[in-house]
Amino acid sequence: RGKRAFIAGIADDNGYGWAIAKSLAAAGAEILVGTWVPALNIFETSLRRGKFDESRVLPDGSLMEITKVYPLDAVYDTPEDVPEDVKANKRYAGSSKWTVKEVAESVKEDFGSIDILVHSLANGPEVSKPLLETSRYGYLAAISASSYSYVSLLQHFAPLMNRGGASISLTYIASERIIPGYGGGMSSAKAALESDTQVLAFEAGRKHGIRVNTISAGPLRSRAAKAIGFIDMMIDYSSENAPLQKELSAEEVGNAAAFLASPLASAITGAVLYVDNGLNAMGVGV
Ligand code: NAI
Repeated sequence: RGKRAFIAGIADDNGYGWAIAKSLAAAGAEILVGTWVPALNIFETSLRRGKFDESRVLPDGSLMEITKVYPLDAVYDTPEDVPEDVKANKRYAGSSKWTVKEVAESVKEDFGSIDILVHSLANGPEVSKPLLETSRYGYLAAISASSYSYVSLLQHFAPLMNRGGASISLTYIASERIIPGYGGGMSSAKAALESDTQVLAFEAGRKHGIRVNTISAGPLRSRAAKAIGFIDMMIDYSSENAPLQKELSAEEVGNAAAFLASPLASAITGAVLYVDNGLNAMGVGV
């Protein structure tokens, strides 16, 4: 039987999540998606109206099928965690069962099990502020949405993952090197995500027989990256300084994720895999 993947963090066809879904679909996996509640309506409408059809084309000419889209807000674990103002918010009130625990329950009810879990989401309300000017609220919000969200997803989904399964997240080199402009505690959040990848690899490996890895991706002009404001500069910097002087395509990250999720990577866990044209290996700009 083919594998089944749940990919959290797709709301359009520009980001890494979409590209990962495509690579997994091309390799024969069934695709389930978790979409941020406020973005759900427009994503589903665009899907239905064929707006993504061109980007749904797989290498064999067929179109990627998304079996089901679940509303998800990875900042909340259970309904009890949701504050009243969010519950009452128009963009949330139209959907239900979108906390992490409920989504995992729904996936279990609908499909029984999954093989692959992908976390392709991040959020930091103060990302454009230097760390030195970041508020406690902004810092903790970045960690909550970008790091703990992964602990929570794995906590709730690991029990429905088949042994031999794999889990992947996306990180950024700002966790270990200084990237001015990646502020608001987002660098801290990625450092936590990478450290957690190791601890979770141990714990989920022992308990569930699944692998946990993260991809440190180079710069991509996604919706989230455009919101940070310095993405064009980072792309230019990479093409000037990286060992491979080409623009990174989302597909290259998607393919690396498909490898990590496959039996070809059966002994790889707890790893940070750089998919960045080699930029991480440079010590100076050239
Ligand atoms: P994106 O905008 O395609 O993906 C981010 C997704 O997170 C969006 O779909 C958004 O709706 C979702 N999201 C935000 N808060 C959420 C929440 N509370 N619950 C559920 N979903 C939520 O952008 P991109 O860049 O593809 O981001 C995917 C991952 O790749 C992120 O972890 C990002 O940090 C990472 N990454 C991106 C790089 C880039 O240059 N674009 C470089 C390295 C890593």
